[in-house]
Amino acid sequence: MLYNNKQSTLSGEKNTEQEYLELVSEQYTFPGAINLLDEIDWDFKDFTTQYLTHRFHSYPARFIPQIPLTFIKLFTDEGDTVLDPFCGCGTTAVEAFLNNRNSIGNDFNPLAVLITKVKTTLIDETEFRYLNRKLSVMKRYLDLDYRRVEDRAENMPNRKISKIFNKVIISKLEAIRETLLEVKEEGHDDVYDLGRTALSSTIWALVENGNGINVDDMFLRKVKYMRGGLKETAKIVKNIPDAKAINGDARRLEVETDSVDLIVTSPPYVNALDYYRAHMYNMLWLGMDFDLFRKHEIGGHSHFIANRFRLLSEYMGDMLRSMIEMNRVLKRDKLCVIVVGNSSLEYELIESHRFFAEMAGDIGFEPIKTIHRNIDKTKKYTSADVGKIDDEYILVMQKTEDAGITADNDGFVSEIVTEQMINFSEQVKRVQGTSIRGRRPTKERLLKNIERISNAIETIPQDIRIKV
Ligand SMILES: C[S@@+](CC[C@H](N)C(=O)[O-])C[C@H]1O[C@@H](n2cnc3c(N)ncnc32)[C@H](O)[C@@H]1O
Repeated sequence: MLYNNKQSTLSGEKNTEQEYLELVSEQYTFPGAINLLDEIDWDFKDFTTQYLTHRFHSYPARFIPQIPLTFIKLFTDEGDTVLDPFCGCGTTAVEAFLNNRNSIGNDFNPLAVLITKVKTTLIDETEFRYLNRKLSVMKRYLDLDYRRVEDRAENMPNRKISKIFNKVIISKLEAIRETLLEVKEEGHDDVYDLGRTALSSTIWALVENGNGINVDDMFLRKVKYMRGGLKETAKIVKNIPDAKAINGDARRLEVETDSVDLIVTSPPYVNALDYYRAHMYNMLWLGMDFDLFRKHEIGGHSHFIANRFRLLSEYMGDMLRSMIEMNRVLKRDKLCVIVVGNSSLEYELIESHRFFAEMAGDIGFEPIKTIHRNIDKTKKYTSADVGKIDDEYILVMQKTEDAGITADNDGFVSEIVTEQMINFSEQVKRVQGTSIRGRRPTKERLLKNIERISNAIETIPQDIRIKV
């Protein structure tokens, strides 16, 4: 695997992109590679992040490719298997693919799975020629069956942005959708999925920009760009690795026990972002069930309005289950890397990486390192509750033994989450007003928070149960 323990010459200096690539492409022993993690400038300021298939589709709170790339290069060999149980738009899977490693990308969001699949599936040029023929005769408006357009307009989710979808735009999107359905009926699944991803990416641009987008031109440009991205990727990839994209729950992974060589993932944050909201319109057009996703989404914040700290115990329970599953599927001695930022609840700072590191010891993981990194200001993402996310933590853990427990063990989950919530409550009492970015709770709110946390502890056994 990794041979000599080469000393880096970059200590204390900023890594340029080229130096960084050379550094991580060397061979190291396991301890050497672990030490090297301290040499890397994790801010990756001004590094190129949107290359090849990474640019196919926007996705909130994605991580930069250099994070998975570093661990893939340093801790796996060609032919190994890399897993991301919360794969989002597939950043880890793409890096595994480009570096000739097999990958498993899992996400409960069906749109995430579609994007991941498309980014890691090479398509033959003859299929693109077929798709282009279909698209060249695509109607630019759906003027025959106006009733369906009316129906769609009436059934749009009622949010401020729904007015962007006027009847002309709906009619164009429907025309694209219809053409793609023909592609599917004619049995060309890979270009059908690629077309759906291009359609979704077009809808995303529409939602982001308000209006003023020529929908069908943008869609055709996206298809062309994707064709180019896959063509370039094909030149890099040697023996096409196996890339699985699974639409599943990270708390119940459909992945074989002891089969994975590395996990690199960034789970949802507590109380930061509802993915189902972000993707509602895309999913609607692709005929995906966003209500089902909403029910199983970890970290969503549209419930427990009266006591936000119940969200925290629910989140910790969900993450503990996911970590037990990560332990199960990982081979012994291999690494599990979790990237997460801080969030806040009722002005109290929530340092998720600390919770994860503490729970790790109870389920067969040994935390090895926590790396802090600043997020490039052009790549930050904003959450209504937390504000701009400026920095994040990379928690590096090693599987030292089997968890000895299954992820569906409510009693165990309840016990560990209770321990964590009691610690959290002590911390809130001890360090008064540990809020994110200096927003401190008033004395009154602090007392209320202590009471709310203690109430949340009472309801842990019911709050950690997986909703069906
Ligand atoms: C921070 S994002 C991951 C972004 C990813 N690293 C990337 O680069 O695109 C977290 C992901 O967790 C997913 N998620 C939420 N609940 C889940 C669950 N129960 N099982 C699996 N995935 C879930 C969301 O759909 C979202 O894609």
